[in-house]
Amino acid sequence: MNRSPRNTLSNLIVVGAQWGDEGKGKIVDLLTDHFDIVARYQGGHNAGHTVIIEGKKYVLHLIPSGILHPKKLCIIGNGVVIDPLALKNEIDGLESAGVSCHGRLFISNRSHVILEYHRLAEKQDEDSRGEERIGTTNRGIGPTYEDKMGRRGLRFCDFLDPQILRQNIEACIRTKQGLLPAIKGISVDKLFADAQKLAEELSEYVADTAVLLNESIDKGKNVLFEGAQGTLLDIDHGTYPYVTASNATAGGASTGTGVGPTRIDGVLGISKAYTTRVGGGPFPTELLDELGERIRQEGQEFGSSTGRPRRCGWFDVAVVRYAKMINCLDSLVITKMDVLDSLSEIKICTGYRYKGSLMKSFPPEIGVLAECRPEYVAVKGWNSRTAGIREYEKLPQLAKDYISRIADLVGMEISLVSTGPDRCETAIVSQDLRLSRLIPSITQGNI
Ligand code: IMP
Repeated sequence: MNRSPRNTLSNLIVVGAQWGDEGKGKIVDLLTDHFDIVARYQGGHNAGHTVIIEGKKYVLHLIPSGILHPKKLCIIGNGVVIDPLALKNEIDGLESAGVSCHGRLFISNRSHVILEYHRLAEKQDEDSRGEERIGTTNRGIGPTYEDKMGRRGLRFCDFLDPQILRQNIEACIRTKQGLLPAIKGISVDKLFADAQKLAEELSEYVADTAVLLNESIDKGKNVLFEGAQGTLLDIDHGTYPYVTASNATAGGASTGTGVGPTRIDGVLGISKAYTTRVGGGPFPTELLDELGERIRQEGQEFGSSTGRPRRCGWFDVAVVRYAKMINCLDSLVITKMDVLDSLSEIKICTGYRYKGSLMKSFPPEIGVLAECRPEYVAVKGWNSRTAGIREYEKLPQLAKDYISRIADLVGMEISLVSTGPDRCETAIVSQDLRLSRLIPSITQGNI
């Protein structure tokens, strides 16, 4: 089996370093030219990646944004949970916009299927939490992963077999009946018939994607692994229980695609120049005042899947340093720099104080995190327009100082800064050697 030397970064993971919505879609889109395959490894249609190309906006939930590049293959890995109707609608939407998925999109035959009762279970679960609701996207994601772990889930290979499909639906409905009163309203016949129709329509896309990926890497093809959500929403490493139900961190790329960790060469973290979070759970640097609202409006911080307003706050070094450790980030991308353009003062959280003492590591206890008080340094805002700037040298000095400060505090190199939603609104910060081998045209200033 071929294995690329460690310093070539042929296969790269892009991962969110905060609570999701960091702008991964845009960065994946930007990097896609340098890869042959883009593979999504976890989550489901709870994610929403917005990509703007030449003024045209595409919002993708399940299909990797690489689909917008005609010659690239896109994989939905085994770690993803798929709502077949949502996927069909996304494929149809792309096709009607002139983007073809035929022969370019492959769904893992081991990925799990979301059905109607998963959404019902999620609603019941959320309702029962009252004030402590997670604030999920109501897409049935968590209950589908629950069934996967409970070893009663429905994988795509089984979804395609009418007999197994029917048996699985009947067994699931039987098992859930006592716990989920709303399930009585579901007609097994209708659920089965609708599911079977979708299975037939989607069957052309189903493949053993682990084989496809590994054989492609054997042949020297390069793979970009696209994470959804972010490190702090990871089921193991995030702010549990206010998390999503999958491994959004870099480790998920291996389990979620069937490509072993030693075949992957690097991890690129994505973070906003500030912080956002959707749904419940502690958020130490949250701004509950007018400034938070201003950032929300400037950054158009409304969920691309649910439209919910995102909670906004200052950049949090404790969060991104933690993400650096958990994902072993090689480099960081800072997005949405332009959103801070009009601020005269910007704060950066350098760490947390809990009961008077500085925290040494990111706390697992949700009650402790809720009680953590951020320590801030205030820096002068650049108070001028960075929007659309494509060359790092052209950024205002104070904006460059902000980037350097973050790099120093987080303790890692920042390779790119995004100054607007369009593919071309990106400035290169560093000429990092590893990154320039991977993406020469980007690091030579040619985006
Ligand atoms: P779920 O993934 O729908 O189960 O939601 C669990 C938590 O993750 C909620 O707080 C959601 O708001 C959050 N979440 C899920 N997907 C995303 C995303 O793509 N961006 C940001 N937050 C998300």
